[in-house]
Amino acid sequence: MRDGFLDWLDSQQGRQYELHERHINPAFVKTIRTIGFDKSYVRGQGEWLYDADGRRYLDLLTGWGMFALGRNHPRVRSILEQVLSRDMPNLVRMDCSLLAGLVAEKLTHHVCADSGSPLSRVFFCNSGTETIEAAIKFARCHTRKPRILFCDHAFHGLTMGSLALNGSEFFRERFGELMPGTAKVPFNDLAALEQALHAKDVAAFVVEPVQGKTCEVAADGYLAEATRLCHKAGALLVVDEVQCGLGRTGKWFAFQHWAGAEPDIVCVAKALSGGYVPVGAVISTPRIMDSVFDGMERCVVHSNTFGQNDLAMAAALATLEVMEEDRIPAAAARLGEYTIGWLREIGRSCPFVFEVRGKGLMFGIDFRRPYGPLKLRAAWDALHLLNEGVFSQTVIVPLMNEHRILAQVAGYHTELIKFLPPLTIAEESLNYFLSAMRQVLGGLQRVPGSAWETVRTLAKGAATQFAR
Ligand SMILES: Cc1ncc(COP(=O)(O)O)c(C=O)c1O
Repeated sequence: MRDGFLDWLDSQQGRQYELHERHINPAFVKTIRTIGFDKSYVRGQGEWLYDADGRRYLDLLTGWGMFALGRNHPRVRSILEQVLSRDMPNLVRMDCSLLAGLVAEKLTHHVCADSGSPLSRVFFCNSGTETIEAAIKFARCHTRKPRILFCDHAFHGLTMGSLALNGSEFFRERFGELMPGTAKVPFNDLAALEQALHAKDVAAFVVEPVQGKTCEVAADGYLAEATRLCHKAGALLVVDEVQCGLGRTGKWFAFQHWAGAEPDIVCVAKALSGGYVPVGAVISTPRIMDSVFDGMERCVVHSNTFGQNDLAMAAALATLEVMEEDRIPAAAARLGEYTIGWLREIGRSCPFVFEVRGKGLMFGIDFRRPYGPLKLRAAWDALHLLNEGVFSQTVIVPLMNEHRILAQVAGYHTELIKFLPPLTIAEESLNYFLSAMRQVLGGLQRVPGSAWETVRTLAKGAATQFAR
């Protein structure tokens, strides 16, 4: 197998669903099969996925947002190949990695560039949820206060600490008692935030500038005022940019859209390594970091084994360089404005579309029960009697079946679909998507029609697409 590994792998093609059903997660396999997403992809390039028969699929899901540069970006791959071709020492642990230092230098440059904030230190880990776990610990350690505030509909990861900051009961229930000392506030509600901070016992307010589960965008002035309120109460402002950071919303970091938004901690992950290697980074100030790592004895009091590994760091360095050279944040701003503008236009003629919202290339469509034609309202009601939150599938399923476009529902028991295209996507591919959306939204207005029939069958089988 060693020399001909790829040939051997090819010879195993077709076994994946059976293997996952047997050894990994049969419920997931059932879901994927039910909605007809059980493809066998064999190659990925930019915004396209290819199956064994050479059919191509437009990827607007990007591995839950990590392939911001598209799949297998050649410049990132080339750097990884160079690193692999050399016997690098890697993770000696009792030294300082040059690669990690170089990534930290770049990240802190971009996080400070627009805001003038002193976010000059970085802690590396291996995932988004780990960045939140670290932020919780850093905030509690620095402030010596117990409570952590989070937002309604928030998603910060699924380990025990970040799960305690999850705004949806669906993810929380049945896992026993979560981390104590947390409290939920409505997103974009400054009065509620002020009230929650009143007792001055809050270590941090953790917030996504653009919420992954809702595509709700922070209102103008919200993060600036949240900064002021937190600091007045002796709390830290933590912005979770795991999904919306690194160019996706049209700036290097989403909080940079708003003057006066000055977080104490910024969390990034997903896109940082171009999707090649698990990675996470917590960016903060010397004052906060030095209060955690406050002496030789405590210099690794929060740490992990794989953080700063050469492959993740080289991929991150390459990704950040591509983002700089190709001016990716500006491209995302332009393409996002174009696409959201057109989607709003297309949505106007579909009575089910309540709102198209988002920022840059992170956007979604929120569907609601229509006021319009009675037969559409009746179709909506009939579907919801069968299964709450399944309407989104009337869009997601034909997007895949009829147009080979991969997208996702944004949350459980909501009617929001979300798109996270690669930031490198060609305008022509976005036009293909817009034209498909026009057809799919048009098809929804034909009752009875094929979209409704397919989804009625799904609703009976209680299939919801896996949402993150
Ligand atoms: C905003 C946000 N924070 C944190 C996470 C958790 O990241 P991970 O899945 O890498 O643990 C996610 C994942 O979707 C996310 O969207």
